[in-house]
Amino acid sequence: MSLPDLDAVDRTGPRPHQAAGLAQREVGTAVTISNLTAVVSGKGGVGKSNLIANLAVACAGQGARVLVVDGDAGLANLDVLMGVAPRNTVIDLMRDRCSFEKALVKCPKGVSLLPAGSGRRDLALFENGGTARLRSVLAKHAPDFDVVLLDAGAGIGKVVIDLAAMAARTWLVATPEPTSFADAYATFKTLCARGVAAPIELVVNCAKDEAEGRDVHRHLERMCARFLARDLPLREVLPRDPRLPDAVTRQHLLVEAFPNTPLSRRIARWAHGWLRECSVNPGACM
Ligand SMILES: Nc1ncnc2c1ncn2[C@@H]1O[C@H](COP(=O)(O)OP(=O)(O)O)[C@@H](O)[C@H]1O
Ligand SMILES: [Mg+2]
Repeated sequence: MSLPDLDAVDRTGPRPHQAAGLAQREVGTAVTISNLTAVVSGKGGVGKSNLIANLAVACAGQGARVLVVDGDAGLANLDVLMGVAPRNTVIDLMRDRCSFEKALVKCPKGVSLLPAGSGRRDLALFENGGTARLRSVLAKHAPDFDVVLLDAGAGIGKVVIDLAAMAARTWLVATPEPTSFADAYATFKTLCARGVAAPIELVVNCAKDEAEGRDVHRHLERMCARFLARDLPLREVLPRDPRLPDAVTRQHLLVEAFPNTPLSRRIARWAHGWLRECSVNPGACM
């Protein structure tokens, strides 16, 4: 596998000591929501929404109360993946046109989804103070759930970073493709520079095998330590699985339609380990 030389990627932008200064100014000391996990990526199309939908259903299948929040403003599609047709969205909630309860949609295995709409209207709302409003809504209602997963979208834009800043941890999803890898590093760097101090962990998706996933992690981790003085632990390596696009086309969730496929089994194991981690160490989840 040939991964890009991130020395070249990293010639611009803040150095670690400058990043620490920016932290105070940009994100400040905002309190994170303790059971909220944000899922971000550098590049789009790396599997965030599919992983969230399947992990959420796997966690709910193991008895957890799960809330999924679609924060991929303007490109929301978790409702489609979960096979539901929302009557209200986060827009209605933010405009006080409906209650939190009315904005929630019940999905498979009882997962609750707070959907976002698609298009520029949603994106504009998120850009103009919507993330602060969402933070206060989630701070109030997240304690009613065991696990809250937030699809925070892709890239280094303000909305993505503001959403990640709400969470007690962020999962950064990347694939072994060099473009995804380089963009993941850029996103990690921006999160650090903007003062996201909560743990960030790597999820390598679409790996050929475990060794390739670990290779991607080692390479990124080394760069993050060297240039940003930050750890990037590995959360998961997930295999490429042709059954996933198959399930999406049929409008089914992989873990329900093909529970025994390698990716489904991996997601079920991830859910199990994650929920155990949360109950052994409630601060990680609750
Ligand atoms: N592990 C995987 N194996 C095979 N295809 C995958 C895998 N993960 C994601 N995909 C495919 O990648 C595409 C993008 O996934 P999506 O979840 O929409 O990405 P994102 O939310 O990051 O934009 C989808 O067509 C999905 O089926
Ligand atoms: Mg998505």
